[in-house]
Amino acid sequence: MNILIASAELDPYAKRGGLADIAASLPIEWKKYGQNPIVIMPKYGFIDTHYHGFKPTYLVLYVPVGHWVEFAHLWYGTLPNSDVPVYLVENADYFNRWGIYGDPNEYLDNDRRFIFFSRAVMEAAKALGFKPDIIHSHDFHTAFTLAFLKSQYRFDYHFSRTAGVYTIHNLAYQGWFNPERAMEYSGFGMKEFYPGSWFERYGSVNAMKTGLMFADKITTVSPNYAREIRYPYYSEGLQDILNLRAGDLIGILNGANYKEWNPETDKHIYKNYTSASLEDKEINKRKFIEEYFETSENLDMPLIGMTTRLAEQKGIDLIINKIEYFLSNDEFRFVLLGSGERHYEDFFNYLAWKYPGKVSVNLGYNQVMSYKILAACDFFFLPSRFEPCGLTQMYAMKYGTIPIVRHTGGLADTVEEYNWNSGKGVGLVFFQYNADDFAFAIRRALSMYKQEPHWDIVRKNAMKKDFSASRSALEYLKVFKWALEKVL
Ligand code: ADP
Ligand code: GLC
Repeated sequence: MNILIASAELDPYAKRGGLADIAASLPIEWKKYGQNPIVIMPKYGFIDTHYHGFKPTYLVLYVPVGHWVEFAHLWYGTLPNSDVPVYLVENADYFNRWGIYGDPNEYLDNDRRFIFFSRAVMEAAKALGFKPDIIHSHDFHTAFTLAFLKSQYRFDYHFSRTAGVYTIHNLAYQGWFNPERAMEYSGFGMKEFYPGSWFERYGSVNAMKTGLMFADKITTVSPNYAREIRYPYYSEGLQDILNLRAGDLIGILNGANYKEWNPETDKHIYKNYTSASLEDKEINKRKFIEEYFETSENLDMPLIGMTTRLAEQKGIDLIINKIEYFLSNDEFRFVLLGSGERHYEDFFNYLAWKYPGKVSVNLGYNQVMSYKILAACDFFFLPSRFEPCGLTQMYAMKYGTIPIVRHTGGLADTVEEYNWNSGKGVGLVFFQYNADDFAFAIRRALSMYKQEPHWDIVRKNAMKKDFSASRSALEYLKVFKWALEKVL
């Protein structure tokens, strides 16, 4: 199958969250199954093309934008350690900037940037002579690709047997666009914009809805999130659309790329370890505390970590509510790596100031540190209010770091509470979005810590868990076949 992935993020070139990891790991797996995937993404200004080995193709794309035509160049490279082709769409006006979506605030022309990109994807496929069986777009940024596929390119021979699959990574970001602008740039015109049209939601253009309506099949990143979003609490206002398309909506659990996230081989951590050498995990903990907490006292205290976007979704409010109680009683150390909303950053700065030696706050994006945190910590916080899938709990488990999670989305599909009687389970789970329930889960974690044999068993259970990307990739291939049945 020729599979064209259109994504705004792709690891290791441009990453804000899990979308980048998934857009990179799926095509590598598909290739192993004999498929023929390519990935197309924007050429952002911060991508070091020389370092990553990208070369210009000298192809020029003519990209219709409204009633005029704009231009783009295509660059070519391959995903690291693979021969999966990656094409970067170059248009300096739109993408030669320091941010993916903003820097630090959202760019005001994101409607135009992503509509342009979505159209450029179609033109790139033609210019490359790549006839996709599947166009796989991800989240609202590339949703318009599917609208183009089903309208402007509907009778184009090049796409005559192409099905469109849309993957929802996060319904919280929908791409609300001004109709006059978006309908013009996309070339549909205001005649296609009326109450209830496939673009319209509450008087605005909603790119997420557009993707949902035009897709042949829709997937989302965990079976549980696929169920949850049929109800108002999780649907971010789109439950009617999701229910309308319910027959075509399938949850596929994300997979983890264990080539990259593996304590046995990880080159970034202080010392490699396996479930048979957990004493070496302690070395990671000690060195990490010495480096980032600048102390070598009380090394036995539990260390809890979190690597996250600082957004409301992630349950930061529960942490704010309870963490000082534990810290002031010297119950654990806490390390945060994250960036995002300013008020959360302010709180964590305050926390680091108030509890020196007990709290390490690292604001910003730091891939190397994210590996070190996984290796060093005893526990990992994920008290999310909602979580379409979540990758860090999967990574944490592989590193023998016990997740403390709320039972929601993909967290519920991947983490079950450790049972002291049966010795089964891998983490701590609480159900209501409520700070007391969260605190009680922490309490259970702290009492499990170093209580043998439980501490040993739970960590070994966690390290045995296998959420491989190849299983996930196979499930997508099945969905692609179903999608093709709709167009053949
Ligand atoms: P989301 O996509 O909602 O942010 P995921 O758990 O799916 O959540 O993916 C988050 C990814 O981003 C993980 O690979 C995580 O390690 C990474 N990440 C998040 N924040 C940072 C940061 N500040 N520095 C480095 N990596 C980060
Ligand atoms: C989104 C979700 C996250 C998911 C990721 C990759 O950003 O917030 O839960 O793991 O996409 O699918």
